[in-house]
Amino acid sequence: MEKSVSPFLNACRCEPVDHVPVWFMRQAGRSLPEYRAIRASASILDAIKNPELACEITLQPVRRYGVDAAILFSDIVTPAAAIGIGVEIVPGRGPVIAEPFRSASDIARLRPIEPEIDTPYVIETIRTLKRALDVPLIGFAGAPFTVASYLIEGGPSRNFTHTKALMHTDEPTWFALMDRLADLAIASLVSQIEAGADAIQLFDSWAGSLSRRDYSYFVKPATARVLAAVGATGCARIHFGVGTGELLDLMADAGADVVGVDWRTSLTDASARIGRHHALQGNLDPALVVAGYEPARRETEHILREGARHGGHIFNLGHGVLPETDPDVLARLVEYIHSWDPDGRQ
Ligand code: CP3
Repeated sequence: MEKSVSPFLNACRCEPVDHVPVWFMRQAGRSLPEYRAIRASASILDAIKNPELACEITLQPVRRYGVDAAILFSDIVTPAAAIGIGVEIVPGRGPVIAEPFRSASDIARLRPIEPEIDTPYVIETIRTLKRALDVPLIGFAGAPFTVASYLIEGGPSRNFTHTKALMHTDEPTWFALMDRLADLAIASLVSQIEAGADAIQLFDSWAGSLSRRDYSYFVKPATARVLAAVGATGCARIHFGVGTGELLDLMADAGADVVGVDWRTSLTDASARIGRHHALQGNLDPALVVAGYEPARRETEHILREGARHGGHIFNLGHGVLPETDPDVLARLVEYIHSWDPDGRQ
């Protein structure tokens, strides 16, 4: 893959593109019948550990949708599972931790990861994908706060009460945990980049549950360390969380090249909050894709106009593809986005 001709990589750097690049968070997954067919015989963590399956699942949406980037088929809990944290991904629910973290003594359970030994399947999947792909490959990791929230709550959470309690009652343990999870993310991301990932996305999916003060003090330093380590490799960095409208400037400041925006905040407002030094990624409401092609296309047109005004726009959904999504609607949207002409508008 010739990097200089990728609209996706150019947009990451706010450089000119011949069409707006597009990919979809959770583009691989339950909305695709070909994915369900594979997953019928393997758990998600087993599929991740099998390079042949993981490659095929990564390629499925690229073939079907013609998107401008592939995202590695893995999960944000893969590194933690690989170093022996008991975790299961429960369909329809998400990661569930056998023994949740609650005190200082749990920190030692997070030993350093050696990616060549602990996650050789991820490295092999990436190397194989690089031979098969003619679009860039996005590697990813969970940001320290979001991974911590799973480890501490023991599973998906609405209010993050245990996580916030630890943060506010035992700072040394909290910061020790953030430190270890930052190291885990750095080692995982650097190994993905060395294997051939062309860009990375740091998912801080649940950071939107935090106030600006808590995010700045308890979370941003560890995240900034991850993004700085990746930045040192020269790899483009996307930083995303759900419901982070109030945090966007802080998330940009943590060291991203591209800031992901969910559908609650317009790209125009995001642009004003972040400034022109970062590209924007987003931000179609995934529910509108379920609503049908025409509602999704209408909103897409607004988003494309806003993105063009910002300069440096990667089209995406505001969060992951919903399971009930009709893949044909996504395929038609990609065609629409690729044929959209910014100069053709009034
Ligand atoms: O296509 C892609 O985006 C690549 C693959 C990918 C998966 N997980 C595979 C997966 C990516 C990028 C992730 C990241 C991930 N995992 C995040 C961050 C992204 C986000 O949604 O904010 C988070 C929070 C997780 C944890 C997780 N794993 C959740 C909340 C779930 C959903 C559970 C469900 O069934 O609704 C998972 C499971 C999961 N990871 C699925 C996929 C395709 C779907 C379930 C399945 O196939 O069994």
